[in-house]
Amino acid sequence: MHGLFITFEGPEGSGKSTQARLLAKFLAQEGYAVVLTREPGGTPIGDQIRHVLLSSTNQAMHTRTEVLLFQASRAQHVEELIRPALAAGKIVLCDRYADSTLAYQGYGRGENVAELRSLIDYATGGLWPDLTLWLDLPVEAGLARIAPARRNRLDAEALAFHRRVREGYARLAAAEPHRWLRFDASQPVETVQTTIRAALNDYLTT
Ligand code: TYD
Repeated sequence: MHGLFITFEGPEGSGKSTQARLLAKFLAQEGYAVVLTREPGGTPIGDQIRHVLLSSTNQAMHTRTEVLLFQASRAQHVEELIRPALAAGKIVLCDRYADSTLAYQGYGRGENVAELRSLIDYATGGLWPDLTLWLDLPVEAGLARIAPARRNRLDAEALAFHRRVREGYARLAAAEPHRWLRFDASQPVETVQTTIRAALNDYLTT
């Protein structure tokens, strides 16, 4: 028995976390065993790494340090939480996963995407999502939804960085159209959620 691994991807302010929470609640009501989690973090060790990664005081962090810390958090997450949940037949909903590394560190920071893929494969033992829900939103619209005081180290990057990230998601989605589903995150929360549920229903029944 193998569960279903679904990830949420998209920019800051796209409402990923809200959508993931609403979907988790819905699926649980439908009788599915659901685990809702997020990256970086998702485990006690991962949450400590998350703090180092997102703290605005860590301006000196080198890109390779950043890449490796994201993979360290992910390795722990996969072993401690995600694989056991999938092995128990559960649906795992994860707010960001490996594609965030490809989009942010690869397309955003310009690190080599093929190299990042092998690091990710090492960290995860080759575990990729069954389905990735991409909440797409113009960069300015996403950033406008986050108050400046709430911006973390990565949110505070220049607009050009966030544009490259969005373009990166577009390329990743185009390369694997069966895994990726794109949603217009500028729609109201309820509309996005209804569309996600309908798409998931199609996926589960075909
Ligand atoms: P978070 O506060 O969870 O923001 P969001 O609501 O945007 O998900 O911060 C996570 C940040 O880390 C976000 O800016 C994206 C970034 N990130 C990467 O750069 N690489 C990664 O592999 C992951 C998982 C996240």
